[in-house]
Amino acid sequence: METSWTHSSESMSKDLSELLKEATKEVHEQAENTPFMKNFQKGQVSLHEFKLVTSSLYFIYSALEEEIERNKDNPVYAPVYFPAELHRKAALEQDLKYFYGSNWRDEIPCPEATQKYVERLHYVGKNHPELLVAHAYTRYLGDLSGGQVLKKIAQKALQLPSTGEGLAFFTFDGVSNATKFKQLYRSRMNALEMDLATKKRVLEEAKKAFLLNIQVFEALQELVSKGQENGHPAQLKAELRTRNINKSYEHGPAPGKESERTNKRHTDMMPTTPLVRWILALGFLAMTVAVGLFAM
Ligand code: HEM
Repeated sequence: METSWTHSSESMSKDLSELLKEATKEVHEQAENTPFMKNFQKGQVSLHEFKLVTSSLYFIYSALEEEIERNKDNPVYAPVYFPAELHRKAALEQDLKYFYGSNWRDEIPCPEATQKYVERLHYVGKNHPELLVAHAYTRYLGDLSGGQVLKKIAQKALQLPSTGEGLAFFTFDGVSNATKFKQLYRSRMNALEMDLATKKRVLEEAKKAFLLNIQVFEALQELVSKGQENGHPAQLKAELRTRNINKSYEHGPAPGKESERTNKRHTDMMPTTPLVRWILALGFLAMTVAVGLFAM
């Protein structure tokens, strides 16, 4: 009879790429179903949200790629080292410059959840480089898969230029055929020398990587919701109000002139000072009395 150990050993004899896909199936679904990702898929993503997620990705890829560079000659990582094809830091820098301007480094926010992910990447890269492949797999194969759908959605929703500005992150110039490249990447992962215990740890690390991504999406969603509670809609309303006001003046006089004219219209028929009003009232009274006396 097969024991759970032999069963587990047998299944662990499968290729790493297959094991990773199986092990992360559930967390992948969880990631796809986070409110942030669900809204994104429906095209419900604002420029503000897109800038926030791009900022977090910059911190994440900076850490990931720093650790990859540290371990590029280490046999536990070297076979999956593809900087020209995959690395995203430079592309994200380009996008951030496009969205925030040349001062982008001082402007991009790093939520706590993003910082936690960054710390894990550095910890793994420095202390357990054999687990780094789990992080590279989670991000890069994801970007080459669902990421391509998200690119089209973002371009349409945010009306970004068709020339690709703001979307460099999703654009892999060094990969002409994503499906073929993913096959090559999987075969390189499968060629990594790895004992059973390490394989299990890699699978656990990949699940952890997905959860770290989910926590980043949740934090971004919270930031956006809080912003809305704390007055973004009001701000937006005020902004829209201002815009409408300005719009009406595009075809008419400036605000100050308009109110002057309205006031004038209302007061044209009436004398302005109380003294003149009193004199007129007394005059009217005197005339009434005179008419009354004359009639007697
Ligand atoms: C709206 C969100 C998402 C959509 C629509 C999406 C969609 C997809 C699709 C269609 C595939 C290809 C499956 C296949 O080739 O069999 C895929 C693969 C993948 N996705 Fe996602 N995904 C999303 C979010 C994510 C996130 C947040 C991550 C991780 C951070 C991720 C990581 C991956 C990985 C690692 C793969 C490769 C699986 C493998 O072939 O081993 N995805 N995704």
